[in-house]
Amino acid sequence: MNFYRSNLERITPYSPGKSIEEIQQRLGIEDVIKMASNENPLGVSPRVVEALSRCLPEVFRYPDGSAGKLTKKLADKYGLTSDQVAVGNGSDELIRQLSTAFLHSEDEVIYPSPTFSEYAWGARLMGSIEVAVPLTADDQYDVDKILAGVTSHTKLIYVCNPNNPTGTYLTRRQIQHLVENLPARSILVCDEAYAEYVTAGDYPDTIEWVREGRNVVILRTFSKAYSLAGLRLGYAMAPKRIIDLMKKTREPFSINMLAQTAGLAALDDTDHLSKTLRLNTKERDRLTEGLGKMGLVVTPSQSNFLWVKLPKSAGVVFEELLKSGVIVRSGEVWQRPYHIRVSVGTEEQNDRFINSLKRIIN
Ligand SMILES: Cc1ncc(COP(=O)(O)O)c(C=O)c1O
Repeated sequence: MNFYRSNLERITPYSPGKSIEEIQQRLGIEDVIKMASNENPLGVSPRVVEALSRCLPEVFRYPDGSAGKLTKKLADKYGLTSDQVAVGNGSDELIRQLSTAFLHSEDEVIYPSPTFSEYAWGARLMGSIEVAVPLTADDQYDVDKILAGVTSHTKLIYVCNPNNPTGTYLTRRQIQHLVENLPARSILVCDEAYAEYVTAGDYPDTIEWVREGRNVVILRTFSKAYSLAGLRLGYAMAPKRIIDLMKKTREPFSINMLAQTAGLAALDDTDHLSKTLRLNTKERDRLTEGLGKMGLVVTPSQSNFLWVKLPKSAGVVFEELLKSGVIVRSGEVWQRPYHIRVSVGTEEQNDRFINSLKRIIN
């Protein structure tokens, strides 16, 4: 028998987007912009900064292990009870909790392809079986294909809605079809990390299924629209029986005091959120149009990033963009060597990206 668990051989550590400092040092350029990790280009809310400075002298104490105030505030926001909400150290932690609480090695985990890497990671961690269901040729979900992948061993079915990296989404009718055909022994996990950015009228309200007590888990994060990526804060909403099991797998104080404080203040700063969403909607449209005028195929996005098909290899374009001080994500991460994913930035950042890309591909 191996000294370590052999399923670890299936895992490659998460590869994050490049940091501004890394590119400044490697290429000797001062003015670098990051459009690679879908962070909020407006930065942190001033109300969060204020709340954090008030909290700093308290950090010698342990935080509230249950994140009680924040859990209650989230529960109230969505018309749930506190025992239907679990806060985590980023939604990444909640994906790990779901994996460790529910996955046996003979269980199957269904997820779309391409998508966020951590669903597969959770399956690998537990030595479970991965079932990747490809999106259609135009990057859309095909619910019948997902259902065709369901067997008596299916435990977790992930839908990333809107999907990272494509920005495409499942409509209310599509997800309804999925939820109505779920086998009793499986859980539908709706990762809605980018839900705040959605403008489509037929985007589903999945929370009603939590209220009805179905086997549905919703994941949300403070890392994107709420601009707290560096503090690590996410939450899950699910029926109490599921939340109770997830909580058994968490570390005692995984949500630190600053994250809890910042989360409370960020929820109160509705102005910052409105500004963020207004900017994203306007710039997402402008960027999509600008790239379209360059003859590029851009997948219509409901998120804060765009999935762009290139006439040249993504690896080459990625490196050339770096040299002009623009960091994006190469599609190679998702085995799509002719795509890049670019986060929607400020007007100035988007113009700089478009101008650099024009120079590179012409
Ligand atoms: C779809 C999706 N889910 C979850 C996460 C992780 O979020 P968090 O920062 O809360 O761990 C990301 C981060 O990029 C994501 O794209």
